[in-house]
Amino acid sequence: MLTVLVTGLFVFAIVKTNGQQKTDPLVESKIENLLKQLTLEEKIRMIHGNSSFTSGGVERLGIPELTTSDGPHGVRPEHGRDWTLDNKGNDSSTYLPVGLTLASTWNPELGYAFGSVLGSEAKYRGKDVILGPGINILRTPLNGRNFEYVSEDPYLISKMVVGYIKGVQDQGISACVKHFMANNQEIRRDGINVEMSERALREIYLPGFKAAIVDGGANTVMGAYNKFRGEYCTYNDYLVNKILKGEWGFKGLIMSDWGAIHSTKEALLGGADLEMGTDIGVPPKPFDEFYMSTPALKMVKSGEVAESVIDDKVRRILRVMVKTNMIGAKRSPGAYATAEHAKVAKKVAEEGIILLKNKGNILPLQKSSVKSIAVIGANATRDNAMGGGSSQVRPKYEITPLEGLQACVGNNTSIRFSQGYTIARDAKADAKLIADAVETAKNAEVAIVVGGWTHGFDYSVWADNAYDAEGGDKPDMNMPFGQDELISQVIKANPNTIVVLFGGGAMNITKWEGKAKAILQVGYPGLEGGNAIAEVLFGDINPSGKLTFSWPKKLEDSPAHKLGEYPGDSINVHYKEDIFVGYRYFDTYKVKPQFAFGHGLSYTKFEYSDIQVSTVGKEVKVSFNVKNSGKAAGAEVVQGYVKDLKAAVKRPEKELKAFEKVFLKPGESKQVSFQLSEDAFKYFDEKSMNWVLEPGQFEVLVGAASDNIKLKKKLQL
Ligand code: BGC
Repeated sequence: MLTVLVTGLFVFAIVKTNGQQKTDPLVESKIENLLKQLTLEEKIRMIHGNSSFTSGGVERLGIPELTTSDGPHGVRPEHGRDWTLDNKGNDSSTYLPVGLTLASTWNPELGYAFGSVLGSEAKYRGKDVILGPGINILRTPLNGRNFEYVSEDPYLISKMVVGYIKGVQDQGISACVKHFMANNQEIRRDGINVEMSERALREIYLPGFKAAIVDGGANTVMGAYNKFRGEYCTYNDYLVNKILKGEWGFKGLIMSDWGAIHSTKEALLGGADLEMGTDIGVPPKPFDEFYMSTPALKMVKSGEVAESVIDDKVRRILRVMVKTNMIGAKRSPGAYATAEHAKVAKKVAEEGIILLKNKGNILPLQKSSVKSIAVIGANATRDNAMGGGSSQVRPKYEITPLEGLQACVGNNTSIRFSQGYTIARDAKADAKLIADAVETAKNAEVAIVVGGWTHGFDYSVWADNAYDAEGGDKPDMNMPFGQDELISQVIKANPNTIVVLFGGGAMNITKWEGKAKAILQVGYPGLEGGNAIAEVLFGDINPSGKLTFSWPKKLEDSPAHKLGEYPGDSINVHYKEDIFVGYRYFDTYKVKPQFAFGHGLSYTKFEYSDIQVSTVGKEVKVSFNVKNSGKAAGAEVVQGYVKDLKAAVKRPEKELKAFEKVFLKPGESKQVSFQLSEDAFKYFDEKSMNWVLEPGQFEVLVGAASDNIKLKKKLQL
């Protein structure tokens, strides 16, 4: 069923959706009981921030403040009630790998374990809401926050995000999925207006959020800073009232990003439930002058806005509080920076590291035979946890790659370190450092260069000295600090060079990629990252991570830059590439990426065979066999794509609709089955404003990456 509402110039459609959030009658009656007792002033106190990370409570009724904390990969250091860090030394938490590294595991179960760690530590630290997961689409490699996010693919996001949210919320803490939506660049994030087609919205940008709400049951959402079709996202009538709260039946609260509300009436009516932030206005306004504070009170008193509008917001806030035992109940204590939690962080790093290239099987290195290693590059000794902006974590400890390697090899192997480059904005190739690195590489059997992007370290200047950080985008895709020059020289000096790349995504490596023997992408792998990297290099761990984004050879190959606009003019950015984001573009437009979406190698080999496709009612069952035909135990992420062979609209060459991570011992095989619902074959039709299954021929493709399809079968639907 499709209901079309015509409002002014815009045609809005309420699209039929499967499933909505549910309410619980017991919880509802508690809420109504409290609501009856609240004065208007008290209600207003609850809908805006009253310190950097809390919103107002009502003590006389036992309604506490709502305490939030970043962030996506660890509970943030304590700030007290303003932005000054407490520095009391009691807030060291488990620094988990970042969102992108978690996603590279392609293992939803690890999402749950990860969320449980966060939830448990948040609870221990007295937080009610953890400000994560971040799930904005990786639209351009330049976005400074890609490291916090998941993928370019909506299906992969949908699958990875649900485990994370359930993990957090099963601990009795709320997750906050952010930034709703289209916060796909940091440049001009405060006001840029995003324009995209309804099809791109429905097929690419919304599914992850929908899964977070409908399948994950997220209690809270954070609105993005930017505008969408002319209205700020946090109180965008279409996004918030019609889609989030209407179509998906979201029953929790949507808070603003910090300082993302810019007017009272629009915010109240546009669906924002809670205004958060600190530095609102110049000079900064006190909390009781926030848009949803005294100005809101005045509007209700004058009759400009009905009190029922405020009641709805307060109900949502109370609902979150009751559901998470904040009112009249006791919480279990949670746990804090435990060895168990570090184990989860390590596991995620182990499965999230991606082996991009391994020429002549130089990896894994053999502990018994390698006698000398040169470790080169400032990232080998750099701590990352406190970088990146709001996602900073004060780690209990952080194992760097150099420390991990030293612990891994033991006394038979000598390791010499050479810095290679200096981490500082605009630092260029340094002839002296390169000469030292070359000398070190020459005298070793193997050279391991640890490079890539960096997080900001000094929080106060994070946008200035960082590439993967909130508040700014990367200027281009080129490796900073003269790393191209360094890596090329090291490879010349020692042909057995392995490159380990940190960072939240792709960089242009064309200058040396062909000559490097092996390349690893490690994202930001958390407090146990150095150990995990070393164990992968030495084969104690068989790599099983896969890229969650397409890695372009150069920036101009990226669809947002080739077909679309980035960063737009000072007012608008038009997503002209439409649905052709990531591999949907590379595969359809036949542009060869450096590394394809879904790519990632292993130390063993997998064989695919015997594909069968059958239709049972409205479902398509795909089954096939995967065999570990190599000598090491390992895991393969098998990927199922769907291709529409003939359609009324231009469709992508293929779209991911299923995947499974399969763990196999040498010689072992497994029959894998994918159950594809009819939704897997649909596209969003802008004429009827609905999802359409066009009868005809389709093809199911199964493979190890979007450019490595092993099995295919046609079917008629
Ligand atoms: C970020 C959010 C974060 C908030 C609170 C904002 O600047 O965009 O992701 O949760 O700050 O720290």
